[in-house]
Amino acid sequence: MSFTVAIDGPAAAGKGTISRAVAAEFGFAHLDTGLLYRAVGAKGGDPVQAALTLTPQDLARDDLRSMAAGQAASRVAVIPEVRAALTAFQRRFAAQEPGAVLDGRDIGTVICPGAEVKLYVTASAEVRAHRRWLELGGDAARVLAEVRERDDRDMNRAEAPLRPAEDAVVIDTSELDIDQAVALAFEVIRQRLSN
Ligand code: CDP
Ligand code: CDP
Repeated sequence: MSFTVAIDGPAAAGKGTISRAVAAEFGFAHLDTGLLYRAVGAKGGDPVQAALTLTPQDLARDDLRSMAAGQAASRVAVIPEVRAALTAFQRRFAAQEPGAVLDGRDIGTVICPGAEVKLYVTASAEVRAHRRWLELGGDAARVLAEVRERDDRDMNRAEAPLRPAEDAVVIDTSELDIDQAVALAFEVIRQRLSN
């Protein structure tokens, strides 16, 4: 029996932080699916070919966390053939025992619609941009503009747009610190594990 936790939401909402804590607490494997799209965007050339031939080395590049890599990821992520090329790997990962947590944009809606737990982690654009700015520095107004641009592209694309699954539990972290957000996620998962 495997147990899948799907965590979706916009940039810098706290998905990765919550995912890593969940993986450690429950002994689950964790896949940051954004890294797949970042690697495809960074590889250059034909994005569909890049997605079909993605290697572990592509995922280990040290420039994947930059704002530019996030923008490039969201541009290739609108291409249906790119998304299709990455689907089987994500679903296989989700099916492993004893469980897996995947974070991204379309995990609860498209990749794992049958996930045992679905969380939609969000926060105001201002709070999220401030968090990204603390991590990466740069011009604060520009970071906010880029976060908004990426939100807009992710939410309004035709294929697998970012939105909460109907059965997702929404966690707004705008006024929560990491410990509070993680505690809420643990509570939802424990409740589901116990029935
Ligand atoms: O994975 P995602 O882009 O959604 O966000 P993250 O990488 O988990 O979090 C982005 C930044 O916000 C990190 O530096 C976290 O430490 C911070 N954070 C926070 O300050 N408060 C929270 N409740 C969650 C995350
Ligand atoms: O860490 P952050 O939330 O800023 O971004 P990310 O999760 O690394 O995702 C980068 C970009 O990849 C997103 O803005 C989406 O355009 C795309 N993505 C996606 O389309 N579907 C996913 N499951 C994960 C990421």
